[in-house]
Amino acid sequence: MYRTHTCGELTMADLGKEVVLCGWVQKSRDLGAMTFIDVRDRYGLTQLAFDTDDNEALRVQARALGREYVIKVSGTVIERSSKNIKINTGEIEIKVSHLDVLNASKLPPFLIEDETDGGEDLRMKYRYLDLRRNPVRNNLVLRHKIAQAVRSYLDGQQFIEVETPVLIKSTPEGARDFVVPSRMNAGEFYALPQSPQTFKQLLMVSGLDRYFQLVKCFRDEDLRADRQPEFTQIDCELSFVEQEDILVLFEGLINYLFKKIKGVEIGELPRISYADAMRLYGSDKPDTRFGMQFVEVNDLLKGAGFPVFDNAELIVGIKAEGCASYTRKQLDALTDFVKRPQIGATGLVYLRVSEDGTLKSSVDKFYGQEQLKAWAKAFDAKSGDLILVMAGDAEKTRKQLNELRLEMGNRLGLRDKNKFSALWVVDFPLLEWDDETSRYHAMHHPFTSPKPEDIGLLDTAPGKVRANAYDMVINGTEVGGGSIRIHDKGKQELMFKHLGFSEAEAQKQFGFLMEAFTYGAPPHGGIAFGFDRLVSIFAGLDSIRDVIAFPKNNAGRDVMIDSPSVISQEQLNELKIAVKV
Ligand code: AMO
Repeated sequence: MYRTHTCGELTMADLGKEVVLCGWVQKSRDLGAMTFIDVRDRYGLTQLAFDTDDNEALRVQARALGREYVIKVSGTVIERSSKNIKINTGEIEIKVSHLDVLNASKLPPFLIEDETDGGEDLRMKYRYLDLRRNPVRNNLVLRHKIAQAVRSYLDGQQFIEVETPVLIKSTPEGARDFVVPSRMNAGEFYALPQSPQTFKQLLMVSGLDRYFQLVKCFRDEDLRADRQPEFTQIDCELSFVEQEDILVLFEGLINYLFKKIKGVEIGELPRISYADAMRLYGSDKPDTRFGMQFVEVNDLLKGAGFPVFDNAELIVGIKAEGCASYTRKQLDALTDFVKRPQIGATGLVYLRVSEDGTLKSSVDKFYGQEQLKAWAKAFDAKSGDLILVMAGDAEKTRKQLNELRLEMGNRLGLRDKNKFSALWVVDFPLLEWDDETSRYHAMHHPFTSPKPEDIGLLDTAPGKVRANAYDMVINGTEVGGGSIRIHDKGKQELMFKHLGFSEAEAQKQFGFLMEAFTYGAPPHGGIAFGFDRLVSIFAGLDSIRDVIAFPKNNAGRDVMIDSPSVISQEQLNELKIAVKV
């Protein structure tokens, strides 16, 4: 028998028991007459005690153990003299009678402890060692628990999990596809799914009624902290539902998860329209853990001779409470922040309401005291507050001010990881203009249905058509998105036409779906959550990489297995692929 217990379970209740434990050597301490070794496994740490008086040979054997050796020990559970109440097993130790080395270990390249000395690159190269560390492994345990809870909730709501294929043809979700060459069909390629969108719709035509899948999706896009080339969705689709049904059901899921996993009550999710989200936060994924909503002041500040304001399409600002004491240096730092190329603003104007009520702005020469007072009033500013204003093209300025708002939120400690603020963003535009290709693209995807009352605008003002689409946002992260779908062939054809597809192209790419719609497709809709993003929010982490067992780096590489990699000429020949680099 390898073990009678794990390294995390023995307590005073087990005193006197003969036990066998297995695990990795965490560290050893030599204290004259005694040698202590901490042995670790997934469940915890147990202290092993080797006493010279009893068995010198055994102690010599123990002293020869290095970090991360895999050992098996037999012994008796005894009470410890110096107790460690921080851990479960801290009141006992094992008086060892027998020690086997199951495998030796090279000295690991970094410390396998909660606080490690290993840098990101090294830990990624030896990810299997990094995963031995508690904080990293705990993220996987959390991920597992959330996955279990998701399945349990959806199962309780009559959803069935169906696996859809991974070798498919491309679904247009907006990113590039990863493709896989087909040996048996030379010159042809499969695409890895960006999502199972079309398959889940076909499952509705099949009458499955409620589908879900915890599913890998693949997108060849630029990577960021919240994006991986392969990631996992909680993908769902339902028949005979309206948007309202979906919002309520998945609000239920989020409430269930937060309650079960974190003991947190989320409650009903507020809803905000896309238009309001952009107007009040400059973002379709507002971080609502804090206020600092935008205030538009065109009427107030235009026409005073300050050219930046006079020529602007939009003058808009935020109020940073209690920041009137910001020094020149701090204000310059904020100006530099918004002028960074990633943000691209031309400048920042401030109005300071000092503790004594004095008003001072960086554009004083254009505005009198009365105007400054009205300005402060528009923001409901009190003594001690600082108003930050930006101006220019409406869309760009909103985006820039969103960055500044988030930065101020960070600086003021308002983005607390232990606070959770979830909401629905609804009424998204159906289409989005793309300057590069000079045409409209589907904002969500081409299967999303327009709001019936807006269909008339498709020909006259396509940009104004709203969709039956919704996103769930938590703490400024888009955790999920979905829509009510088109289920009618004619409407779907019309949509493809508006998206610039010729009839032949639409037929070639999506003929199968449109044909399916002619065989009794039920009204349906769905949603997909970014599972990695959800887990990282639960874990209070900034990057989804930390909740993925074997993630890729920012260049899309797995540095552990060294992938992607070149393949042999034989493989290329077999696939009939000629590579020119
Ligand atoms: P969407 O493209 O909005 O919708 O994706 C759904 C959710 O998946 C997450 N997500 C990602 N997570 C990590 N890395 C990525 N590269 C990445 N890309 C997206 C986000 C996002 O909200 N088929 C539709 C859903 C539907 O209409 O039902 C879809 O895939 O959290």
